[in-house]
Amino acid sequence: MKKIIINGGKPLQGEVSISGAKNSVVALIPAVILTDDTVTLDGVPNISDVDSLVDIMETMGASVTRTGETLEINPCGVENIPMPYGKINRLRASYYFYGSLLGRFGQAIVGLPGGCDLGPRPIDQHLKAFAAMGVTVSYEGDSMHLTTPHQSLHGAHIYMDTVSVGATINTMIAAVKADGRTVIENAAREPEIIDVATLLNNMGAQIRGAGTDVITIDGVEKLHGTRHQVIPDRIEAGTYIALAAAAGEGIRIKNVLYEHLESYLAKLEEMGVRMTVEEDAVYVEKQGSLRAVSVKTSPYPGFATDLQQPLTPLLLSAEGQGTIVDTIYEKRTNHVPELVKMGGAISVDERGIAYQGPNHLTGAAVKATDLRAGAALVIAGLMASGQTEISNVEFILRGYSNIIEKLSALGADIHLVTD
Ligand code: EPU
Repeated sequence: MKKIIINGGKPLQGEVSISGAKNSVVALIPAVILTDDTVTLDGVPNISDVDSLVDIMETMGASVTRTGETLEINPCGVENIPMPYGKINRLRASYYFYGSLLGRFGQAIVGLPGGCDLGPRPIDQHLKAFAAMGVTVSYEGDSMHLTTPHQSLHGAHIYMDTVSVGATINTMIAAVKADGRTVIENAAREPEIIDVATLLNNMGAQIRGAGTDVITIDGVEKLHGTRHQVIPDRIEAGTYIALAAAAGEGIRIKNVLYEHLESYLAKLEEMGVRMTVEEDAVYVEKQGSLRAVSVKTSPYPGFATDLQQPLTPLLLSAEGQGTIVDTIYEKRTNHVPELVKMGGAISVDERGIAYQGPNHLTGAAVKATDLRAGAALVIAGLMASGQTEISNVEFILRGYSNIIEKLSALGADIHLVTD
């Protein structure tokens, strides 16, 4: 078991560079098995979700070489074996293998994905789309059998009942080599969807409309290798921007595409955060007093659910009262009791989160219950006086590349210790 120890209240200054997007790369890696050729991914973050996916790829027969932030994958040896249980339930994104195995073999034996506990996370829209493309789903013990009559999928017109990032990407991956045209309506519009479509199109796919709510995919027979630069992680960027406003004395966050963060930056401006948007960076000054605001999450381009928790400590430092309502995951509130332990005037009920500020946080022993709750606790620990000890930090290491090194370089007194 690993822990993060933070001695808070240190002046943080300097520059930090944002890594490639977790929620993009976790789809790009499984998508590669649609070809037999080598695909090179640049800008791959150093996170344990990537380690888990590489492990699954290798178990299935792919050859993977990792050099710094570059991943070279040759999937030609991938076999149609049942996906390794115990590995696939380590992370949510293993469900992208459903689409890519269906695209490659027309069938797959898979298991249910894992991931952070944010309340119910159904995959009915993924399965509905596969069914429309001719896939039969049956269950045997812990495994799910996805089969097609002639080991190939056909195009279909699919209207998603819910705007879902995962279901949109998975359908796109499955449809790339299907017979005929697939149209996804009410598709999610997140930048990660455009990134996956860009990789697939550069491998020879015919996808149009990614980034809008109607995506059209004309099936092709064969895909080929390519080289692809992963987009910057907008959630990591938003986390460091919140951290810089909460505990910084002048921090430049580099490798940021501000277009991906417009609703978030607008909310920070509403709070009175002093920052400057530069060409591919955001410079955050030392802050004066901030105004409390209310936050409501919604699908992109709305305020991202993944940034609601990392923003909470900054909200706690602001004057006044506000609410946080997560319309994507109503139960994404596990950071609240931990922030209470640190002295935050914050509570949660069936209507959402309510807080009252300004608060002065004090160090405490707290527990990361999920990835973004963990990020919130790191920020709170940096703001707090005294020592904060965060347990369960495996969650944080799943999604924040080199977080200890990046924060140490800014001047934080932060250590990863093994119990
Ligand atoms: N939903 C359904 N049925 C489905 C799929 C989704 O009802 O078949 C619902 C979900 O329960 C949720 C909403 O639709 O209420 C949106 O879920 P979505 O499918 O978009 O989420 P996801 O694809 O499972 C990805 C990210 C999450 C991020 C969400 C929302 C990955 C691997 N995960 O999850 O990231 O919160 O989109 O933007 O891309 C994180 O990075 O911390 C994280 C949890």
